[in-house]
Amino acid sequence: MATIKTKVFAHRGSKGTHPENTLPAFEEAVDCLAEGIELDVHLSRDGQLIVMHDEKVDRTTDGQGRIADLTLAQLKELDGGSWFSEKFAGTKIPTLPEVTSFLQEKAYRGTLNIEIKTDVIQYEGIEQKVNDWMESRQWSFTYLYSSFHFPSLEKLALIAPDTQRAFIMFAEEELIQLGVYSPIISGLHPKYTWIEKQSPNVSDFPKDLRPWTVNKKEQMIDCFNKKLTAIHTDYPQKALEVRKEWQN
Ligand code: G3P
Ligand code: MG
Repeated sequence: MATIKTKVFAHRGSKGTHPENTLPAFEEAVDCLAEGIELDVHLSRDGQLIVMHDEKVDRTTDGQGRIADLTLAQLKELDGGSWFSEKFAGTKIPTLPEVTSFLQEKAYRGTLNIEIKTDVIQYEGIEQKVNDWMESRQWSFTYLYSSFHFPSLEKLALIAPDTQRAFIMFAEEELIQLGVYSPIISGLHPKYTWIEKQSPNVSDFPKDLRPWTVNKKEQMIDCFNKKLTAIHTDYPQKALEVRKEWQN
């Protein structure tokens, strides 16, 4: 039997089966026993921490416009589920406090990967706000921060030196090297295509590797064989089944 190593992180909740970054998607991730859950955070016009992937609400709600231009009250009026399936009609956009409290209620014991979405809009003070909230109580789960925007990770390293921080990228070689040599980074989250090109001894890599988005069975097995720290997948239940089959 192969040794269990690679953890399964549910990307935006369970994005492939539920409306991404919503409580039903996070509930599915908890219920299928995903060892990690990834979400994305932005700031609303009135400074609230909003969990959504895009800068605009257009793709994943029935509304229009940038999160940065809308208040929490306006965002709460939107339907964040119908675009995915009528079954999820009326699903609200959650805030980071709502998601973390929900995970706590579910006694989630995995790792929450909080992605600070500052690569397009550099929301003033978002790093401090996120960390103030996370430090405001004891959680049943552990957490780590990630971002495509390196300066956000530098800010977090100053604000919260003891936290884990990972650099996300499309796997440009110079950015991989920046991540490898940076003392403020504990992990790299490259696009899976970079992993595919690596030899099996990538397991000796000096930082935690958690590629995205690993949805195909053969890609999952490649990551398990390479003994990566984790994968981000839109199909956590499938990945857990594939890993079980691979172990036996
Ligand atoms: O952290 C992995 C992944 O979430 C990065 O890409 O665009 O889905 O946030 P994206
Ligand atoms: Mg993300």
